Amino acid sequence: MIDQLSEIERTGLEALEAVQNEAELEAWRVAHLGRNSGLMQVFSKFGQLSKEEKPVVGARANEVKKAFENGLAAKAEAMKQAALKRTLSQEQLDVTLPGRRIPLGRLHPDTQTLRELYRVFGEMGFQVFRSREVESDEYNFQLLNFQIGHPARDMQDTYFIEAEGRGDNPIVLRTHTSPGQIHAMRWISSMNPDNPPPVRIVLPGMCYRYEQVTNRHETQFDQLEGLAVGPGITFSDLKGTLADFARRMFGQNTRTRFRASYFPFTEPSAEFDVECFLCGGRGCNVCKGSGWLEIGGCGMVHPVVLRNGGYAPERYSGFAFGLGPQRMTMLRHKIDDIRYFFQNDLRFLEQF
Ligand code: DAH
Repeated sequence: MIDQLSEIERTGLEALEAVQNEAELEAWRVAHLGRNSGLMQVFSKFGQLSKEEKPVVGARANEVKKAFENGLAAKAEAMKQAALKRTLSQEQLDVTLPGRRIPLGRLHPDTQTLRELYRVFGEMGFQVFRSREVESDEYNFQLLNFQIGHPARDMQDTYFIEAEGRGDNPIVLRTHTSPGQIHAMRWISSMNPDNPPPVRIVLPGMCYRYEQVTNRHETQFDQLEGLAVGPGITFSDLKGTLADFARRMFGQNTRTRFRASYFPFTEPSAEFDVECFLCGGRGCNVCKGSGWLEIGGCGMVHPVVLRNGGYAPERYSGFAFGLGPQRMTMLRHKIDDIRYFFQNDLRFLEQF
């Protein structure tokens, strides 16, 4: 019987070797593992064996069965792999490959804050005016009432571009968005120089300063400038506008305060604070216990600046302000390092 089992095993495995497709494999399974197979007949005759023979034949029969079952599984797998290989080589498009996920993008936190600012100021009648980032000394400083050598220039460490023969008017990367005031006023007043139309705009964009980079200072940062020019505009309009802005931006009950300050292009000038929107004015570590957050500078447009823009200061007045959107974003989300904004690290960006 042991010899018979060896013969069953040899012919069975040989036949398996010759199997070409799934139908043949199924036929093989019925013939060699099925109820009428030689192997199963050995099992059915088991009862007739002597006590000594039983364990020996039993072990051998199980061995053959195991070999058949393993052979069957290996053959099935090999045929599946061969079929896949065949389709892969014949078909251009492999629909069995899982698709590549397309990561969803989102807006940079700076852009989100800027868009919110456009919305708020848009509701108040301000249009967005885009101005250049590469400026001349004249626009960045002189026309804004910072004469050459003016001490207030020291507040804005500047990137000067070496360009031959420009004398006192070198090329600079703008240190603030304020030069856009001059471009905007000149453009708008040129539409009707004798009776220039009123101005109500916000000017967003990047500014550049030669800074020692730290967690609070970067060599580039966003500003949002505001400018309103027209007949009879007063400091009350400035206060009302910024107070309304703060309520729309930070909540209905947000209080504001103005502290006297100095800028060459405004007179009078003020620093503009809002009540800390994180602690509601009670004092926390973000507002350093004061209850107030410094949001920007503002003031009444200086007569020299109005005239440089084409608006006669005898007939027109105006107010201006400059806000730091990045600072607002940092305060809002308690971001403690301004360098994150430009590192393009997804671990940072994906949080917004
Ligand atoms: N340009 C100023 C700065 O970067 C900010 C500023 C202050 C803008 C007062 C204004 C203003 O329009 O009225 O430091």
